[in-house]
Amino acid sequence: MNDRLIIFDTTLRDGEQSPGASMNADEKNRIARVLEKMRVDVIEAGFPAASNGDFEAVREIATSIKDSTVCGLARAHETDIDLAAEAIKPAASGRIHTFIATSPIHMREKLRMTPEQVLEQAVWSVKRARSYTDDVEFSPEDAGRSEIDFLCRVLEAVIDAGATTVNIPDTVGYNLPLQFAALIRGLQERVPNSDKAIFSVHCHNDLGLAVANSLAAIEVGARQVECTINGLGERAGNASLEEIVMAVRTRRDAFSCDSNLDTTQILTASRLVSNITGFAVQPNKAIVGANAFAHEAGIHQDGVMKSRETYEIMRAEDVGWQANRMVLGKHSGRNAFKQRLKELGIQFETEEELNGAFSRFKDLADKKHEIFDEDLQSLVTEVGLDDANEQLRLVTLRVCTQTGETPEATVTMSVDGVERTGSAAGSGPVDASFRAIESIVDSHSELELFSVNSITSGTDAQGEVTVRLQNAGHVVNGHGADTDIVIASAKAYLNALNKLNSSTKRTHPQISGLI
Ligand code: KIV
Ligand code: ZN
Repeated sequence: MNDRLIIFDTTLRDGEQSPGASMNADEKNRIARVLEKMRVDVIEAGFPAASNGDFEAVREIATSIKDSTVCGLARAHETDIDLAAEAIKPAASGRIHTFIATSPIHMREKLRMTPEQVLEQAVWSVKRARSYTDDVEFSPEDAGRSEIDFLCRVLEAVIDAGATTVNIPDTVGYNLPLQFAALIRGLQERVPNSDKAIFSVHCHNDLGLAVANSLAAIEVGARQVECTINGLGERAGNASLEEIVMAVRTRRDAFSCDSNLDTTQILTASRLVSNITGFAVQPNKAIVGANAFAHEAGIHQDGVMKSRETYEIMRAEDVGWQANRMVLGKHSGRNAFKQRLKELGIQFETEEELNGAFSRFKDLADKKHEIFDEDLQSLVTEVGLDDANEQLRLVTLRVCTQTGETPEATVTMSVDGVERTGSAAGSGPVDASFRAIESIVDSHSELELFSVNSITSGTDAQGEVTVRLQNAGHVVNGHGADTDIVIASAKAYLNALNKLNSSTKRTHPQISGLI
């Protein structure tokens, strides 16, 4: 049996379907670069028919990524497939992933199609996709609740029509590990041409079983697994990439395959995704949670000091953990700065971008003399790579708070290059600052999330703020970091407003109702 496990990452597509986890094209690109560096085999970059913004983001990723296959999702419709084909055209290696539901409830209630019509549409769509590329994936949506006889017919027909990967989704996270493994084994045994396609799985986490179901399927022969960084995804999320990859690698005795992944990039990817989406990683999350390798109990600490293997089954450094170490300081030069960012998967397209980021780094180094990787990542996440073209920029912020008094804020900001000042009172310093900004821009946006994290430890650590704003169906996450958390909050708010105003406005796929 094939011993290579193909890692198909769908953070940028299914992951983005998490309510609130919207990303702009620049953010998607940055995540794609880290995934490429991690040697992910296939990056599902988006759903080109969902919006112009999605189309452009997939096209940009297809242009810039060279070492991973870039995939675009398409419903089993002519226009979706044609748009996906157009979006992945620039890719060195491109895939079209087309899907149609096969469960009785989805066919009857959602599609209002007979099984025969679904079968015909599936075959037609795969043939259409094959007219553009040799790499075509087909998914019978809600396979986990489909009738196995019908699934066998559909899979046989789409493989005959040219599907090179057949993906079995547990769309609603309903399956149990033994049952899901039996389904995958049954399909492989019963579909006469099953040896002509790679079997893939795509599990959702509604019962907390996405990783267990994926691993059960891999044990019986699935050779592609669809997953996301930090398990991001619709509702309770998808199977988590880091957990699957590390389970397979750590338990080589139980699996007859392994991935090609460079696992040392896992933590960088996890932090970047958490940073960009504003979805914090729980401390006890396997592999990437802050406590994943921390030993609290004295008896454990003693054991680990005597022999690491007494309590550790993986090496923290194999997934990218290092002791918080100072990577750069006040006296570091541009080259060291550029090199370290490159190692973190961040590259500059122009000298201006590099200069802008370097000058922000110098400002930070003046306030905080030890700069860690996490500081550098947030320095870039905060404004993207190009802050020179931002419509709104913070110039100064003055906030007065005193016990028993109502906090007041006065903000001066540059609006299209013209300085404007506004003041407001609020229930706290952050509320007052946001109101002062609104007194100038009057955006009518709704604040959906406000979260503060400290980037590293110590009282001089930067506070990193995520602000999620919604305006007429557009959802964006703004980021700001500063050693002063009120300033970080104002920066995050302005960053979100800039994103709402940017020309690449796109409706979140959930809101457009396409999936
Ligand atoms: O969950 C699902 O069924 C999907 C398909 C589009 C593969 O995301
Ligand atoms: Zn899904």
